[in-house]
Amino acid sequence: MIEQEFERVFNAAPEVIAQAPGRVNLIGEHIDYSEGFVLPFAIDDVTRCAIARRSDRRVRVTSAQQVNELIEVSLDDIAAMRGEGWVRYVLGVIWSLEIETGLDIYIDGKVPLGAGLSSSAALECSVATALNHLFHLEKSLSELALLTQRAENKYVGVPCGIMDQSVSLMAKAGYALLLDCRDLSTRHISVDFAGADLRLLIIDTRAHHALIDGGYAERRASCEEVAKLLGVGSMRALSIEMLQSREPELTPTQFKRARHAVTEIARVLEAVKRLESKDFYAFGELLNESHRSLRDDYTVSCPELDAAVDAALENGALGSRMVGGGFGGSAVALIRDEDAGKVSLAIEKAFAAKGFTAPRFFSSLPSDGAKVIS
Ligand code: GLA
Repeated sequence: MIEQEFERVFNAAPEVIAQAPGRVNLIGEHIDYSEGFVLPFAIDDVTRCAIARRSDRRVRVTSAQQVNELIEVSLDDIAAMRGEGWVRYVLGVIWSLEIETGLDIYIDGKVPLGAGLSSSAALECSVATALNHLFHLEKSLSELALLTQRAENKYVGVPCGIMDQSVSLMAKAGYALLLDCRDLSTRHISVDFAGADLRLLIIDTRAHHALIDGGYAERRASCEEVAKLLGVGSMRALSIEMLQSREPELTPTQFKRARHAVTEIARVLEAVKRLESKDFYAFGELLNESHRSLRDDYTVSCPELDAAVDAALENGALGSRMVGGGFGGSAVALIRDEDAGKVSLAIEKAFAAKGFTAPRFFSSLPSDGAKVIS
């Protein structure tokens, strides 16, 4: 399908087609930039890209979602321009990978936009995977994760951590990815909710995901300030006892931000043990603790996320929490299969009663990371 679309637009066949998924994060929120552990999995929605080389230095980009828009730039202008909208992510990857050949690129993005499911990482990683193959760059998955993060940090201008790109590249179907954000080492952790008649419901609150608006950068800066004040490399180096003993040196806000980071890192490791022993009740309780910590200490939740989480818990969820950067986007709830209808109805009702935009629901099994498909 994407092959035909590419040919229709560019009158030639693509040389490579690659895809990369979005993600949800089971637990480990706002700690990737503090050298913590995170436990995301790839969802089954992917972004595909088809690419062919050109003989000049032009880069032309279009997408299935914006059929009438063909963006055309010269390789010589990419570094100086930043552009607008989704195409920045594509240009950022070309810039970060230092590609010096003109390209025709067709994108088909199926990861829901603005839902906090990392549609931007999926886009970056699909392009990076295709270019890595096309130009025989021989980059490892960790190198690609760092290069796509660089595109987002330095080109697009979003100070994100390394989680989204890593999981989009490294995920494996049936497993969550335990990622040590200090050295990018990984362990695949089996996730078998279905075997216990459970599922992870993903609730897109449709509230604005204002990652770029400063709230994210402010949280990140706060953790870096605390690390500096306490003379440690990152939040990873702190235990809760150490943090508590140094509380007088911090402002109340700094202390709360750091408390989230330190306790969240511990929760991820605990969650891995609970998943491995299939103790899903204890796992659910860790999700709840994570949400409370994000809501009360890190203050990155919002009324829509809290309403989704509360309604899920009131209707039998084993655990529920916001995922991603916060301030909108999605929440997850671990629920019994038989409760699926009841829980989504209750969330819809709670949203209607509060006058919020109706939420959307997804469900996804842990899926594969990026790959070249032809
Ligand atoms: C966004 C960022 C990630 C991570 C999460 C919060 O998704 O892109 O790097 O920091 O927020 O866990």
